[in-house]
Amino acid sequence: MISKKIEALLNQQVELEASSSQYYLAMASWAEIKGYNGVSKFLYTHSDEERTHMLKLINFINERGGHGVVPALKAPPASFKGIQEIFEQILKHEIHVSTEINKLVERCLSEKDYTTHNFLQWYVSEQIEEEALARNVLDKLNLIGNDKGGMYLFDRDLETLSTQQDKKGK
Ligand code: FEO
Repeated sequence: MISKKIEALLNQQVELEASSSQYYLAMASWAEIKGYNGVSKFLYTHSDEERTHMLKLINFINERGGHGVVPALKAPPASFKGIQEIFEQILKHEIHVSTEINKLVERCLSEKDYTTHNFLQWYVSEQIEEEALARNVLDKLNLIGNDKGGMYLFDRDLETLSTQQDKKGK
């Protein structure tokens, strides 16, 4: 059984994962209409992953005697300045998600809720990967700068990356 406080915090995390999914979906759709097919595929996959993060939380809350609540969401932005801006926003957003996960972990320790603490370890590792991936993509973009040919190859690279992510089945 989880405490009411932990249940409320986990439900806040449900909302954050759901809004991450919507946010990345908006980015994917924008990238698609701008002709960045690889980037858009990568972002659609990323959006799906966030949805699975949300589902995992809902299932856990329910298994532990709570109620995973589906939240109302604020609309994400519809357009973006460019690909660089998108990945900067992703990194910023993922750092925010990591901070929230860490707060949850701390709360579990102070309540001695070791079951939820154990469950959250998956999210702790996932956040390390997600931040590293966003940094890695930003490094590539910085190298490319304004080189159009480089951007074409980058877009193709991201398509490969999203296929690899798909195979991981996250
Ligand atoms: Fe589920 Fe990207 O945090």
